[in-house]
Amino acid sequence: RLPVTLPRLMEKRALGEPIVMVTAYDYPSAVAVDRAGVDVVLVGDSGAMTVLGYDSTVPVSLDEILMLAKATRRGLKTPFLVGDLPFGSYEISDEQAVATAMRFVKEAGCDAVKLEGGGPTSVARARAIVSAGIPVMGHVGLTPQTATALGGYKAQGKSALAAERVARESFALQQAGCFSIVFEAIPSAVAEMIHERLEIPVIGIGAGPNVDGQVLVFHDLLGIREGRGAKFVQRYADLLDDMAAGVGAYAEDVRTGRYPGPEHGYAIEPVELAELRE
Ligand code: KIV
Ligand code: NA
Repeated sequence: RLPVTLPRLMEKRALGEPIVMVTAYDYPSAVAVDRAGVDVVLVGDSGAMTVLGYDSTVPVSLDEILMLAKATRRGLKTPFLVGDLPFGSYEISDEQAVATAMRFVKEAGCDAVKLEGGGPTSVARARAIVSAGIPVMGHVGLTPQTATALGGYKAQGKSALAAERVARESFALQQAGCFSIVFEAIPSAVAEMIHERLEIPVIGIGAGPNVDGQVLVFHDLLGIREGRGAKFVQRYADLLDDMAAGVGAYAEDVRTGRYPGPEHGYAIEPVELAELRE
């Protein structure tokens, strides 16, 4: 497989070939998604919740996400790697945003970064980072970092006025130079309508089928979590159950003496045995 590039992603949009994007946060999840042949990998700040156990994406630090991004990079060969700028790491100034994006590229080997929102601040930061030579992915609709301001984790763009806002933000992000935009939790009809008027690839999560690609959180689609998750999640495995069962079987074997067996032990060397007897 050839490495996935920005021109290749634009070509996929032009040809109507769905773009497959998924999150990863460490070496084994990266190896798994690379092997599966996905196009784009996002080190999402969702890792705050999926792998670090925070209640939301708000408290996670830049250094924590960078560590996840570095581990993910080591497990990838061909997918395009996007690093998610955590809350507080890009809002303060264009300089802060560029410095943060630079760390994702230079220290973690990311190909691009993603930031949330399409208001004036996010658009200015996207433009500054693009100007510094780093590709930027936008993210509109439900933006978890500012979910409190949105009234909680709920679908966005449901009224005409709200749909108009999502459209306006999307065009502004495209105008700022974003190479792609994530649409999260937006009515399918609204996503389709805005998608038609945009030129860059739109990746949906809870935005229906009429966009250029889909993204899901690794732990959601594989069931490495407690609870079902959002309405848009399709679960393809129940790995948390499998993990608990596997460790449970090991615990049982240790407690009953079935493990370790003779096949797991090391034999002493015959010559050493002779020396021991002396
Ligand atoms: O952090 C994340 O996983 C994301 C995707 C859901 C787009 O931002
Ligand atoms: Na995110």
